[in-house]
Amino acid sequence: MEGVNSSSSISDLDDLARLLDRPRLNIERKRSFDERSFSEMGIFDNVNSPGGWETPVSSARNSFEPHPMVAEAWDALRRSLVYFRGQPVGTIAAYDHASEEVLNYDQVFVRDFVPSALAFLMNGEPDIVKNFLLKTIQIQGREKRIDRFKLGEGAMPASFKVIHDPIKKTDTIIADFGESAIGRVAPVDSGFWWIILLRAYTKSTGDTSLAETPECQKGMRLILSLCLSEGFDTFPTLLCADGCSMVDRRMGVYGYPIEIQALFFMALRSAMSMLKHDAEGKEFMERIVKRLHALSFHMRSYFWLDFQQLNDIYRYKTEEYSHTAVNKFNVIPDSFPEWVFDFMPLRGGYFIGNVSPARMDFRWFALGNCVAILASLATPEQSAAIMDLIEERWEELVGEMPVKICHPAIESHEWRIVTGCDPKNTLWSYHNGGSWPVLLWLLTAACIKTGRPQIARRAIDLAEARLLKDGWPEYYDGKSGRFIGKQARKFQTWSIAGYLVAKMLLEDPSHLGMISLEEDKQTKPVIKRSYSWT
Ligand code: GLC
Repeated sequence: MEGVNSSSSISDLDDLARLLDRPRLNIERKRSFDERSFSEMGIFDNVNSPGGWETPVSSARNSFEPHPMVAEAWDALRRSLVYFRGQPVGTIAAYDHASEEVLNYDQVFVRDFVPSALAFLMNGEPDIVKNFLLKTIQIQGREKRIDRFKLGEGAMPASFKVIHDPIKKTDTIIADFGESAIGRVAPVDSGFWWIILLRAYTKSTGDTSLAETPECQKGMRLILSLCLSEGFDTFPTLLCADGCSMVDRRMGVYGYPIEIQALFFMALRSAMSMLKHDAEGKEFMERIVKRLHALSFHMRSYFWLDFQQLNDIYRYKTEEYSHTAVNKFNVIPDSFPEWVFDFMPLRGGYFIGNVSPARMDFRWFALGNCVAILASLATPEQSAAIMDLIEERWEELVGEMPVKICHPAIESHEWRIVTGCDPKNTLWSYHNGGSWPVLLWLLTAACIKTGRPQIARRAIDLAEARLLKDGWPEYYDGKSGRFIGKQARKFQTWSIAGYLVAKMLLEDPSHLGMISLEEDKQTKPVIKRSYSWT
């Protein structure tokens, strides 16, 4: 991390007053795609229209030659298939024969399967996705215990494994809901990804019958019951333990991590389009509408950071009480990390990692920000600003291998305290500022949605220069992502599938409809330019 003192970095800027009077974000030049698609949408996206999005003129490159890596990637993806009683039900996390330690990389992870599923859907092979959705919803019905404690009915597994008994000729499934996972954390993201994938399947095939089955309706309701339940919360965001999503080790992402909030928002909106209008379904729909309303306001107001907002909170008073408080969460400006003042460009903005009482985690997380764009949790202006930030901070956020999972890395004393001295999450490695090729598909989708395919193309070019040659690593290390990760698996399936999805999206942007939701007019904020805390 750069060691620049916060006040000096601000005073380094030649004319603060001029900067504060920052011009309105100029999003006109890249609005064609946004505007047309946003204006064509209904209040809630309807899954009955497969495809949905037309190919934007600005982003189609018709003379797209298949890269030789594409065929290799498909072969590798097909090698990772996992069968249950003769039917493909998922893909293994990594097919790395060279690695001695298998750990749980021989399992089908719910989150890892998402890019595989999208690749198969885009390639017109929906059956495996249907099998996966049905198998995992069956697994959800199992009793889940950690020691003597029973987990909520709706919890979805982090992963499952098919055990083939060659003598008895039987296949059985063992699942992990967190009871075997390192850290014993239940995956909050799995249920959300499941709902998002069910919508993707429905959108891409036009087959609404799967989502309409009693099993899928019940599965959805159980997941929703878990995350919409009433409790002591004062915020509409979802309170989580550390390590409950893609970052599945202790990394200081406890509280209200952006990754979960963005997936939560997207899953709520996806469920809204698939719940049946029967008595049970309607009851959930009402709860969803209320939650979405509160959640989008909260996220767009309190998680959003741009230059203006940073300067506003930098000048915060503290110890305010009652409804007139401006600094509602009593965040002490002295706690702000020095790096954020250098990192924040004049053009651009992002949803920060976490907001809770007296705590703002300013780290940038790629997955949460890209999903926020795809789910239209970000307003069109915010989406454009996130893309501006990626362009402005390309070296830091993309570097030599797309895409940094988070920025910046934490080190020294902070690393000891925050990770508990985790040797896997050392400086610029793995979850601590490592670069994950799987995130390429999310970046590409966000680029297409915001009408900036050229950014995706640039990122894909970087990936193509190394991914195959390096054996599809799980992650890369180093400040700019130059080195194959210290303990990275090779032939990591989601690195392979993520690349394929990115390629197919760029080639045919109409695929975007299956993983993107247009803006919902009901949650459109009144606040336009300054995302004030008041
Ligand atoms: C690691 C990642 C997790 C992923 C799993 C399987 O634990 O942190 O996100 O699901 O590997 O690839």
